[in-house]
Amino acid sequence: MKVTTIGTGYVGLVTGACLAEMGNQVLCLDVDAEKIRVLEAGGMPIHEPGLLEIVRRNVAAGRLAFTTDVDRAVQHGTLLFIGVGTPPGEDGSADLTYVLAAARSIGRRMTDYKVVVDKSTVPVGTADAVHAAIAEELAMRGVQVPYAVVSNPEFLKEGAAVEDFMRPDRIIVGADDEQALLLMRALYSPFNRTQDRLMVMDVRSAEFTKYAANAMLATRISFMNELALLAEAQGADIEQVRRGIGSDPRIGYQFLYPGVGYGGSCFPKDVKALVQTGAQAGVELRVLKAVEAANEHQKQVLVAKLLQRFDGNLQGRHFALWGLAFKPNTDDMREAPALVIVRELLARGATVAAYDPVAMPEARRLLGSAAGLRFGERAEDVLEGADALLLVTEWKEFRTPDFDAIKARLKQALVFDGRNQYDPALMRLLGFEYHGIGRGGHPPPIA
Ligand code: UDX
Repeated sequence: MKVTTIGTGYVGLVTGACLAEMGNQVLCLDVDAEKIRVLEAGGMPIHEPGLLEIVRRNVAAGRLAFTTDVDRAVQHGTLLFIGVGTPPGEDGSADLTYVLAAARSIGRRMTDYKVVVDKSTVPVGTADAVHAAIAEELAMRGVQVPYAVVSNPEFLKEGAAVEDFMRPDRIIVGADDEQALLLMRALYSPFNRTQDRLMVMDVRSAEFTKYAANAMLATRISFMNELALLAEAQGADIEQVRRGIGSDPRIGYQFLYPGVGYGGSCFPKDVKALVQTGAQAGVELRVLKAVEAANEHQKQVLVAKLLQRFDGNLQGRHFALWGLAFKPNTDDMREAPALVIVRELLARGATVAAYDPVAMPEARRLLGSAAGLRFGERAEDVLEGADALLLVTEWKEFRTPDFDAIKARLKQALVFDGRNQYDPALMRLLGFEYHGIGRGGHPPPIA
């Protein structure tokens, strides 16, 4: 099939590449000429495991191409995926400027039947607005061209985006047009072989599903983070509690990890947007407001622990920091807890030496000029003479480090583990003073 993706961010690029991989003819459009230049030159604007290989393979096979030419892009696809950004507006609600601009640019040019697919995370009612925008443009041209607007939210996780697209848990399609639905089913059939994972629903429910999923997941994290604070105060160990409750299938083990707060391009933005949608609809989302407040608080937890440990004064202290990205396997630092932590430490007169396997260029861009901050080429480079090591992102290479080398380099054997990667009992045995998240209580004896 002929597919166009509008927007070559995470969503648009992964969608385009994975659809090309299944034999579709895909053209990816972006207004950002530099991004298109990089992609055409065989480069990759984002760090996403496996994506570069798929892009290169499909470009070479002639199934995937990139363009800034809107006319060509609209002509090309029967299915036009809108995967542009929906950043938070002033009040936190999703800003639909780019989505509606994409809709209008389609309406201004289309000459045959199109299925316009909303892939961006957009509030309930957006498909209707997209439909209306296209209708307006067609009316202005004085032409009648058939089209359908479909909601097909994306659930990809950064760092696992290709895998998530290729092997989805579910494919949500909100459509009220038979022909559009047939085309969507055909397009997704290669990803839907072993078990029918395609769920058809009305357009508004599909739009709502995406927000509901992210809000539920964010709620789990904030709730666990709060329980961790209480566990610590009560002399209980949240990691043992986590296993205890996760064994209940109604709760489950996934997404129960306490840490330094959630970040990224989705949870913070979508939680805010849903709260705002509630306000507009006259429904106060009390739980979700608390989820957001708890997360802001959680980003400060490591600094609070440091303040407690250093008698409320971090002036002149020097800290080693491992992990800057908002989670492993990505260079994305949007809403990353590390940003809050680094800025707070610097503001309190401390200095920081930071290392991240891939996010350092991005960190330099966002924090670069800050005095008192430097970056190391390797994890061990940042340890020398630090008052403590802070673990902020749980990259695999931090899981089983050379603890003796860490001890030898740090000024004192002090570790603040923001992701509960290390065993408190083992750390004690190795001679470290160890602070995790919610790790009160007596750790179980080492097996
Ligand atoms: C998320 C959703 O998982 C995905 O379905 C949606 O399409 C987009 O938003 P993503 O933002 O890529 O994906 O990352 P995810 O792996 O979900 O993690 C989000 C944040 O939650 C990270 O900061 C992570 O560190 C944090 N997190 C996750 C926890 O603190 N604890 C957990 O148990 C899980």
